[in-house]
Order: sequence, then C-alpha cells, then structure tokens
Amino acid sequence: MSETLQLPKTDDRVAVYSALFPQVRDLLNDEHDLIAAMANVSAALRQAFNWHWIGFYRVMGAELVLGPFQGPVACSRIGHGKGVCGTAWADERTLIVADVDKFPGHIACSPLSKSEIVVPIRDRSGRIAAVLDIDSERMDDFNEVDAHALGRICTLLEPLFE
Ligand code: SME
Repeated sequence: MSETLQLPKTDDRVAVYSALFPQVRDLLNDEHDLIAAMANVSAALRQAFNWHWIGFYRVMGAELVLGPFQGPVACSRIGHGKGVCGTAWADERTLIVADVDKFPGHIACSPLSKSEIVVPIRDRSGRIAAVLDIDSERMDDFNEVDAHALGRICTLLEPLFE
C-alpha cells in the first residue's frame, strides 16, 4: 500500500473523487480493522477536500457513538432520530443539508459548519451500522455527486462491520 495519496490539483470534484476512489480501495484492501479503515478514510477525505469536519459515528444500541474523525472536537453521542446524523440513521438514507440552520434539530458541534452531508453505512446483514458525517464551512457545499461518490467509498467499509 502507498501511504501517499496522489490527487489532482483541481476544484473539479468528480476528478478528485475519481482519483481518490481506487486509492482508498487499495488502502482498505490491506486493512481489516474497522477503526483503522475509518481513520484512514476520514484522513483521505480531509486531504482531498479539506472540509471542516469529517468523521464516523457508529450505531451502538440506541445511539450513534463518535468514531474516527478529522477536525475539531465534536459531540460524542447522538440519539436515534436526533440531528442530521440520527435522522439519516432513522430514515436509512443519505441526507444533504444545504443550510444547517434550516434543519430542525440540527446539532451544532461547531459554529463554523454551514452545510452537511450524512451517508449511512450498512453492515453485511443490511442494517445501518454507522454514518459518515461531513461538515463544510461553505453553504450548500454538497450535492448528488458527493452523495454518490461518498456512498461508493462507504460501501468499501461494509465488509468490515460484523
Ligand atoms: N451536525 C450533526 C452532529 C455531528 S457534528 O456535525 C460533527 C448532526 O446534526 O447530527
């Protein structure tokens, strides 16, 4: 495995995701530990896009519990159906929030976060086992391109959940 990511210097997100995906896949091919894999995925996304906060919350009983992340400290537990993360878990779908202030119940871990995307991750039996949460300092920073590409990246983690 190479520990250096090769990323194009461009604002074209499709191009960056295209370069990133096979490198993340290779990185995860060599790693069977879930925490190590999530840690490197959050770091790779940070390197590629420099978003404000990128991280994982794992389903543990009735809550989401903070996992590996890149960025400032964040709330460590989120209830089912609470905030953007808990809603994505309850609804079992990716949520794109263009303006976090307009999302009822948004949990503001940082005043710098303006928009957010949350992608649920399933385990091998199809249950939601975690979510990938990304916060941007820019309003309306995420769209279907991100939902699709981040969903593909999250799929790579699915075999690592028990
Ligand atoms: N904003 C999230 C909480 C997690 S932080 O953004 C890291 C939410 O509303 O669920």
